[in-house]
Amino acid sequence: MGKAKMKLFIFLVVLGVLSVILISKQKHYFAATEVYIAGNRYEGTLSARTISLDSHNTPISMKSITPIGNSSHFAVSAFIDHRLENTIRVISIIKRNSLQPLYCLYCNNDHACKFTEAKIDLHTDHFGFPFGASDVLCEGIHTQTVTHVAISADHISDINKLNFLPVKNRVNNETFKYNFTICISNLFGDYNNVLQFTQTMEMYKLLGVQRVVIYNTSCGSDLQKLLHHYEKEGILEIVPWPIDQFLNPSAGWNITLHKGDLHYYGQLVTLNECIYRQMYQSKYVLLNDIDEIIMPYKHANLAFLMEALQQEHKHVTVFLIENHIFPKTQFEESGKFQRAEWKNIPGINIMEHIHREPDRKNVYNPTKMIINPRNIMQTSVHTSLKHTGQVYRVPFNVCRIIHVRTPLQGSLTKEQLFVDTRVWDFEQELIANVDRALHLSGLLKSQE
Ligand SMILES: *[C@@H]1O[C@H](CO)[C@@H](O)[C@H](O)[C@H]1NC(C)=O
Ligand SMILES: *[C@@H]1O[C@H](CO)[C@@H](O)[C@H](O)[C@H]1NC(C)=O
Ligand SMILES: *[C@@H]1O[C@H](CO)[C@@H](O)[C@H](O)[C@H]1NC(C)=O
Ligand SMILES: *[C@@H]1O[C@H](CO)[C@@H](O)[C@H](O)[C@H]1NC(C)=O
Ligand SMILES: *[C@@H]1O[C@H](CO)[C@@H](O)[C@H](O)[C@H]1NC(C)=O
Repeated sequence: MGKAKMKLFIFLVVLGVLSVILISKQKHYFAATEVYIAGNRYEGTLSARTISLDSHNTPISMKSITPIGNSSHFAVSAFIDHRLENTIRVISIIKRNSLQPLYCLYCNNDHACKFTEAKIDLHTDHFGFPFGASDVLCEGIHTQTVTHVAISADHISDINKLNFLPVKNRVNNETFKYNFTICISNLFGDYNNVLQFTQTMEMYKLLGVQRVVIYNTSCGSDLQKLLHHYEKEGILEIVPWPIDQFLNPSAGWNITLHKGDLHYYGQLVTLNECIYRQMYQSKYVLLNDIDEIIMPYKHANLAFLMEALQQEHKHVTVFLIENHIFPKTQFEESGKFQRAEWKNIPGINIMEHIHREPDRKNVYNPTKMIINPRNIMQTSVHTSLKHTGQVYRVPFNVCRIIHVRTPLQGSLTKEQLFVDTRVWDFEQELIANVDRALHLSGLLKSQE
């Protein structure tokens, strides 16, 4: 062996020894794992293991609720989170007292898959219910090209038994299809408040809303026709939400009053899902209920309102809007909106309820929100849980929620309420559009 060759040999031996030492020191980063593919056991490391998959073996679930095998948990939807580096966020429903390690198997179109341990980020708002909204975060390399992901409760799993979800928001596209989208969390029971639903939808449209996303567990038969109409028209996106097939959802937020596994039919889950669903579709997202109208009082529509607000408050990403109650038990006196056409339409006629409850001493009016979805990480119902940017409580005289419902201050007489006829400003167009929608839904027969 020549002198030079000898030096090289020694160098390589030293390098080899050093590598072994280094790798063994880092070993705790790479906990060993095994995956089965088509019945074959596959061993690897948690971080950088690439697996080739046959496309026939990976049916992708299009369901909105997917049980995580061998656990009590559920996966809902998966999104690339462009605000974080190399992260897939899987909106999930986690049984809070049964936390356990979860794993991600994420794949791209070439069916190269990677296996990694997930981070579980339980949302702080769960109202004490056993199950809560959560993010399951899959962090790893090359997540940008991922097309589908499965969450597993076992670090040894049979790939054929995993349910893959499609990964959405793959392109960070800021040319929005819509300026204003409303996320309505849940329809359930035999909700059949057709007239208020129609009036509210038509009001939203006049205010400049281009998209309404609604999560449907169940609804009444007349409302069903209306939903089909709006879906056909293109404004309404109906997301199936069969939560009652998996859990016993509560019909409220107070667990002592409304027992169940999960707060209000999973409202916290659907609101978060909706924000991610709309992140690159809509400039702003409104989070409110179907019986609530976020109403500008100084501007003709939401576009003018938000232009003004955003100009004044450049760094605000969460706008809080105060809720105000218009009791359905108080009617305006003239009776001019008791139209014959609406006599047989079930539900509340919001045009007749123009009396607003006053603020109460020591009671904070709850808020709903207009948000920039790209700044929100996690939301609750009345406030955001995690976001970037500032929060602004919009003054009541600029914008407030018209919420026609059972009174909160039922003992007040009409004289003790404020007259607030803002919806009447839209009277002409609103009535014509409501009639049209009812006709097209088959709920209002022609006069002839
Ligand atoms: C659940 O666990 C069993 C036994 O450990 C295993 O055979 C099965 O593949 C697991 N199911 C899933 C969906 O991973
Ligand atoms: C971005 O969105 C716009 C409008 O929806 C669409 O026309 C365009 O093709 C999209 N661009 C990419 C790169 O997806
Ligand atoms: C959104 O608003 C911008 C101006 O603010 C307007 O140019 C655009 O047409 C609007 N988009 C839709 C879908 O209405
Ligand atoms: C709403 O969900 C119920 C229950 O799954 C279903 O029967 C109904 O067709 C759904 N309605 C719409 C409009 O999707
Ligand atoms: C929930 O309901 C119970 C029973 O009516 C009541 O005692 C409790 O104060 C309520 N909780 C809250 C936070 O309002």
